Amino acid sequence: MKTLVIASGNPGKIHEFENLLRALPIDVRPQPEGLDVEETGSTFAANAQLKAKAVASLTGEWALADDSGLSVDALDGGPGVHSARYAASDPERIERLLKALNDCSQREAHFCAALCIAAPDGRVLLEVEGRCEGRITTVPRGDQGFGYDPIFEVNDTGRTFAEMALAEKKQHGHRGRAFNALEPKLRELLAKAQ
Ligand code: IMP
Repeated sequence: MKTLVIASGNPGKIHEFENLLRALPIDVRPQPEGLDVEETGSTFAANAQLKAKAVASLTGEWALADDSGLSVDALDGGPGVHSARYAASDPERIERLLKALNDCSQREAHFCAALCIAAPDGRVLLEVEGRCEGRITTVPRGDQGFGYDPIFEVNDTGRTFAEMALAEKKQHGHRGRAFNALEPKLRELLAKAQ
């Protein structure tokens, strides 16, 4: 059976991917401890590639990496690839973003998740993206989820990610959509590799 290393040091993310990949004929493993690949790309896809290639080359196995974040139209796509580093904590990131938009009426935004699977020889085997369109609220709402969830209202739902149960967030969310796009392609890839 093929091995797929999850290129992340985040136990929550590794767990999420193990769960999502459970139905596939593949041996899913976490990346070696202490590995930290710098995210120097200017797009989510570039960062996912960087991480997948580095971990595949280091481990000698296929590696799956993701990169995600929030892009706000009025901020020229920011915080974008800098979403995690925008401020020191979730409440501070939210506060900074709300201040940056102030009373701006243009509040359209989207979350994006890029996934990449790379081979140890540096080949990119698979790349997909999932998006979720919405708006930035004027005040935080809800207490589920993490990150920017309380200020991101999903289009056509009237609710923020933080006001949704996990199953509903998966259905609308960027990561769920990216994974839905990945799964059939990964099945095909595995069938070819046999
Ligand atoms: P990553 O771990 O490098 O992909 O960083 C993603 C960052 O984007 C996180 O630290 C969050 O700040 C933000 N982010 C990504 N996905 C979500 C989400 O589903 N809800 C809220 N914030 C998110």
